[in-house]
Amino acid sequence: MVTAEIVIDPAAVVAPIDRRIFGSFVEHLGRCVYDGIYEPTHPTANDDGFRLDVVDLVKELGSTTVRYPGGNFVSGYRWEDGVGPRESRPVRRDLAWHTLETNQVGTDEFARWCALTGSELMLAVNLGTRGIDAALDLLEYTNHPSGTALSDQRIANGSVEPHNVRMWCLGNEMDGPWQTGYMTADDYGKLAARTAQAMKAADKTLELVVCGSSGSNMATFGDWERTVLEHSYEHVDFISCHAYYQEYGGDLGSFLASSLDMQYFIETVVSTADHVGNKLRSAKKIKLSFDEWNIWYLEEHQQSDEISDEWLVAPRQLEDVYSVADAVVLGNLLITLLKNHDRVASASLAQLVNVIAPIRTEPGGAAWRQTTFFPFSVTSRLARGEVIAPRIHVDTYSTKRHGDAPLVDSVATVDRDAGTAAVFLVNRSQTESIEVTIDLSGLAMSTVTEAVSLHDDDVYARNTADDQNRVGLVDLEGAELSDGRLTVTLPPVSWSAVALA
Ligand code: AHR
Repeated sequence: MVTAEIVIDPAAVVAPIDRRIFGSFVEHLGRCVYDGIYEPTHPTANDDGFRLDVVDLVKELGSTTVRYPGGNFVSGYRWEDGVGPRESRPVRRDLAWHTLETNQVGTDEFARWCALTGSELMLAVNLGTRGIDAALDLLEYTNHPSGTALSDQRIANGSVEPHNVRMWCLGNEMDGPWQTGYMTADDYGKLAARTAQAMKAADKTLELVVCGSSGSNMATFGDWERTVLEHSYEHVDFISCHAYYQEYGGDLGSFLASSLDMQYFIETVVSTADHVGNKLRSAKKIKLSFDEWNIWYLEEHQQSDEISDEWLVAPRQLEDVYSVADAVVLGNLLITLLKNHDRVASASLAQLVNVIAPIRTEPGGAAWRQTTFFPFSVTSRLARGEVIAPRIHVDTYSTKRHGDAPLVDSVATVDRDAGTAAVFLVNRSQTESIEVTIDLSGLAMSTVTEAVSLHDDDVYARNTADDQNRVGLVDLEGAELSDGRLTVTLPPVSWSAVALA
């Protein structure tokens, strides 16, 4: 049997856990909002029209901040359309996804939905078709307590308390030719700096996210970050990263090593941001907001006819049905975010419901968990305290897209006050179980309290509308802790978590 050795040294602290690393994303796209979180005629809907069965699943998922309302959608959005009496809200064309937007859900309703799910609202402003003025108006509407035109309008609309949104995205993917109003790095960097400076004049405690690259495969990757930060460094707190992965042409080995690209992405953005900061002799370090990450079968969607010439309300778009292999990769991407948590302080799984999402719904029907739901919810629940970077000794295998990849990846967390710890592991081998010995003698743990795994003999097994519980967590058999050494056997193509006390 293949073996691996892992050493968890409690001194190897990456960072204390900021719960914003478990954020997600709700965009006005396809059936994420309409027929997803919002369906007034559903038997579980509350007075606002929000499905409470979906609310329960969001709570179980353990997502924290929710980025809203886009995505590409935000680059044509007029936030004013989505506030005030619902019956007088306009229907508009959404050019990003070629659909009709009814505006029945807007900022106030979504803030109430966040309160219902225990989430923190993170907003994006439109820097595609709009600019500083609209961003400042939205900020006044959401955050100013009272006594100004827009804060009093919010109060008159029923939101007496301000929404106190602290994290704001300065536009979305402004490097992408598909973005409404996309720009050069120079133009965007200047606009972002001016918008950030104005927003911070209103409230210097805001945390602002400037747009980084839409992917590590963008031709401008690296140069975009450098130029944008040269303009905006002193005004912003975060730079965004977006990354989506999929299996190409049956190359499962490369797909299972996708997190190596995420690692490359993070290291490149960190070194570019630090290069700009050092050149400016700034004492400040820019953090990364990985505010779109997931598995997305983009090529298949591009070849489909789901974005049509018609103007439809909430059509089925980007409704990926995820496999066991997809969930293993997702769990591995989350391990990578945690390993880099000293710089990746915030992240958003894109997206939350129906659209490339861990939760699926049918109108008038059920809501269920996709395979990808499980590694996210378990990690969010068990990862507490501080992140510890393990030393991993294991063989590698060769991949076409990412070079040599270690067969096992892992990260640990320890909560010293609670006396608990957790280890998260991935086995990327397609054929071999791997026996892993984990030296955690420095952590003084004495019992295994939970050991679960996501794997299946069929790596392409999925949960569907007709078979909603085909894939779920299984016990990780034989996890044993003795004399500070934990041994586990990881099945091929699996994600696992072990909790200790
Ligand atoms: O999450 C789907 C889309 O992916 C978002 O709208 C956009 O920001 C990205 O390209």
